[in-house]
Amino acid sequence: MSFRRAISIACGFAGGSAVLVCAAVAADKQGYFGERCRLRETLAAVYAAQPPAWPTVNGWDYNWDKRDPSSIMNGRKKESAGDIGSPDGENNKPKATRYICLIRHSQYNLKGEGDKEKILTPLGREQAEFTGQRLAALGLKYDVLIHSSMTRATETANIISKYLPGVELVSCDLLREGAPIEPVPPVTHWKPEAVQYHEDGARIEAAFRRYIHRADPKQKEDSYEIIVCHANVIRYFVCRALQFPPEGWLRMGLNNGSITWLTIRPSGRVALRSLGDSGFMPPEKLSRT
Ligand SMILES: *[C@@H]1O[C@H](CO)[C@@H](O)[C@H](O)[C@H]1NC(C)=O
Repeated sequence: MSFRRAISIACGFAGGSAVLVCAAVAADKQGYFGERCRLRETLAAVYAAQPPAWPTVNGWDYNWDKRDPSSIMNGRKKESAGDIGSPDGENNKPKATRYICLIRHSQYNLKGEGDKEKILTPLGREQAEFTGQRLAALGLKYDVLIHSSMTRATETANIISKYLPGVELVSCDLLREGAPIEPVPPVTHWKPEAVQYHEDGARIEAAFRRYIHRADPKQKEDSYEIIVCHANVIRYFVCRALQFPPEGWLRMGLNNGSITWLTIRPSGRVALRSLGDSGFMPPEKLSRT
């Protein structure tokens, strides 16, 4: 059973969460999902939750990742008062900042048939070297290097990994490229089927919930995570993280091998530090096709 098929089955039974979990567990048993990429939990959470409610024009929802300590406290207090550590809930408050570095894979052979043949071009491999050098030169204490399981993202991550010895490499199916949500305004050159938005949209939203959230209260130190994935996924993540209308994702452009930084404070505040930075690459190495 392919990953896509597993997801379709899961979607088909979205009404019955038990069946959904079974489908995802079956997929999990077949080894599609790595240790750090728990599709079962994330998908179950997506379908159990209300459909995402986009905030109003002027509002900022502090509980956007459902990890706002005050909301969690209130929920638990109702069930078991006094059973949650210190009275002021200090232990339950996140303290660390998460720095998330989103990298668009570098240039690949567009003529390849299917994912396996869509491998990096020689220029694409060079671009990934520049990105790897840049990340190493920044000298941050990276915790993990997660990448989409698609060939072009895996290849890009492997090249970057050479420059970051000792940083764990993790592959994840949730991060694969897709059609996150119908873009507004619509474009004529790109028209996926409605069913594709339906399937990919839920998966990419699941990826967002899995990776983009404030630190866990147990996290003591700030963390730096690298995620190598795809332009549509990154643009959707940026819209969602900033609480901008997600339909606007296609209004942004990202260079191959570029770096997008998100900072998530313990309070739930989010800042976009850079979008598609590729200033570290010599101009002749930027792909313009
Ligand atoms: C990145 O490379 C792909 C081919 O791999 C190409 O279609 C795309 O236009 C490039 N993007 C930019 C911004 O250069």
